[in-house]
Amino acid sequence: MTTPDAMALGGEAGEVTLAAPTGSRRNVLDLDDFTADEITSVLDDTGAMVEVLGRDIKKVPTLRGRVVVTMFYESSTRTRISFEEAGKVLSADVINMSSSGSSVDKGESLLNTGLTLQAMGVDVVVVRYPHSGAPYLLARHLPQVSVINAGDGLHAHPTQALLDLYTMRERLGTLLGAKVVIVGDVLHSRVARSNLWGLTKMGANVVLSGPTTLMPLDLLSGRDELEEDHPFAQVDVDTDLDRAIEGADVVMALRLQSERQQGGFLPSLREYIRRWQVTDARMARAKSGALVMHPGPMNEGVEISTALAHGESSVIEEQVTNGVAVRMALLYRLCAGRGSRMAQAG
Ligand code: CP
Repeated sequence: MTTPDAMALGGEAGEVTLAAPTGSRRNVLDLDDFTADEITSVLDDTGAMVEVLGRDIKKVPTLRGRVVVTMFYESSTRTRISFEEAGKVLSADVINMSSSGSSVDKGESLLNTGLTLQAMGVDVVVVRYPHSGAPYLLARHLPQVSVINAGDGLHAHPTQALLDLYTMRERLGTLLGAKVVIVGDVLHSRVARSNLWGLTKMGANVVLSGPTTLMPLDLLSGRDELEEDHPFAQVDVDTDLDRAIEGADVVMALRLQSERQQGGFLPSLREYIRRWQVTDARMARAKSGALVMHPGPMNEGVEISTALAHGESSVIEEQVTNGVAVRMALLYRLCAGRGSRMAQAG
């Protein structure tokens, strides 16, 4: 099949032209296998999708005939709904599956569920799963399907990281040299892990802050042994948030993930709030105009103050808005230039 040089996202309100996707990406599992150029290309496509979403009639025929299944074995508001909206705006047929009410209730395995969807001619499976690695298992065994990781255990959440990168790039102009402080429960955060890959590849300076017990020692204890050019070799850790935040361009608060903690990580919630809650007073140490981010859902009054979460420096709602566009860009990247599986079967 020939790939067009460029693709027009036609619609009733005119066309937006995108460069044809480069490379042969089939899956989006994490950002470790993205180059900086590919991330840049996804962010550029996201900008075009934002334009589509700004139209009165948000509908283009780009993915007509493609079938996208969202398969969520863990709860979600932002990721699941934005994938559904993204697929529908691009005219794909989107089917939402959850573990309850499907044959998963009868004990069907993840792999057999995936094989069943592949046999039905599905083009893209978007999967969220409580255990790390599940999307990789599907990708390995479903050669005819594109798999997108919508969050696997503590491991990765690449589409969240891409929407974070897009939001930062839009506001700052560039990620190169930006100081990004990621605060809180980094240990249990798949968002932080994917952001570490994305931010370091794009040349940002990342500082992790929070209690030592919530720092990812697997990433950091071996830092001295990392090759100098390994992306994480330059990531800093500073448990003193007031010091870490000095001169920051972006402060990203993470949700304290009590559901993933078996206890013993914190002396007390009150102590955590006192030392690591992101507040207006702490943001005064950051650069003027610094951005406050949070992937959501938030524990307001714990990792972030309510005033700051809804204040002028917060781009948290913008992150959510951009999530739809970035997921459109990814669906486009995986599907455009290859025929629908249903059409091939026919
Ligand atoms: N940020 C995020 O993944 O949110 P949801 O759990 O609501 O999808």
